[in-house]
Amino acid sequence: MVKTMEWNGETLKLIDQRRLPSELAFVTCESYIDVAEAIRKMIVRGAPAIGVSAAYGYVLGMKEYVRNNTKEDLEEYMKEVYNTLITARPTAINLKWALDRMSNVLNGNLDESLDALAERLEKEANDMANEDVQTNKRMGMNGAKLLPQRCTVLTHCNAGALATAGYGTALGVIRAAVEMGKEIKVYADETRPYLQGARLTAWELMEDGIDVTLITDNMAGWVMKQGKIDAVLVGADRIAANGDVANKIGTYSLAILAGHHDIPFYVIAPFSSIDLNIHSGKDIPIEERSREEITKIRDVDIAPKDVKVYNPAFDVTDNELITAIITERGVIRQPYLKNLSKLAENG
Ligand code: MRU
Repeated sequence: MVKTMEWNGETLKLIDQRRLPSELAFVTCESYIDVAEAIRKMIVRGAPAIGVSAAYGYVLGMKEYVRNNTKEDLEEYMKEVYNTLITARPTAINLKWALDRMSNVLNGNLDESLDALAERLEKEANDMANEDVQTNKRMGMNGAKLLPQRCTVLTHCNAGALATAGYGTALGVIRAAVEMGKEIKVYADETRPYLQGARLTAWELMEDGIDVTLITDNMAGWVMKQGKIDAVLVGADRIAANGDVANKIGTYSLAILAGHHDIPFYVIAPFSSIDLNIHSGKDIPIEERSREEITKIRDVDIAPKDVKVYNPAFDVTDNELITAIITERGVIRQPYLKNLSKLAENG
């Protein structure tokens, strides 16, 4: 399986996801600024992957500080590191979750030497990366049990190994089902405008030898109407306390289509994607990206030069459209407000 990120103790090597599938190229981040830039430019993307990358960015910030400074302004410096990383992208809560976890470790151990602190932070980031893969495998098992022995699923965007430290969330369920001996076929939405489905999901599944068929986003309804889809599996960037889910633009339309055709619509996300501080999806910040993502493909204009453009990168799916939210702690169904807070208590 592909290795989205690799930490060697000094640098973070990332697959340059902008260049897939034509090229498997890598970018090496040597500083926290490099990591923030990699997240902003979507060299690395997908909620859990940007969380874990940011944790390594925090370690790089700390290591830079240890090389150049004494301890006087450590807290101020690391606040700057935190702020630079957290503002790289606004929607995925995993970024904040990972950085809060790192800064709690720092703040809880300020009496230690700089070297000991740096080592502690590095261990925390490594733990986070390993836990992410284990979490995905647990979610994979929880989700795979819900799928029939032979089935065809539809997925949107890329919620795979490339979007995590490994294995994937929605694609993790597919991998686990295949490992359990189920016969799984996948339809992948191309996912305009950034084409994560066409470029990343199709590539990643083909690398693993999993049966995948690519469609454009506007074909999903027709494919469902023809009875070809048994379940829809998507990831999440942030889940509000009431179960509303922010995920890649187009997810909401898919959920409506799935409801109309009576197809189960599953969201697969780690507990770290749940933001109990936000009551409903209305309060989730939705990133807007550049006009060029819509008006151009590569460098070729596909729209009039000065056309007005609206490019929200995510949408919010209302909780009542979601059949179940599959987490590493279990499968949650309505009423989400009650069941998600119970999940938090039992964690
Ligand atoms: O803009 P992206 O590519 O970062 O968006 C990614 C998604 O929307 C994924 O579905 C989500 O982060 C879950 S990934 C396990």
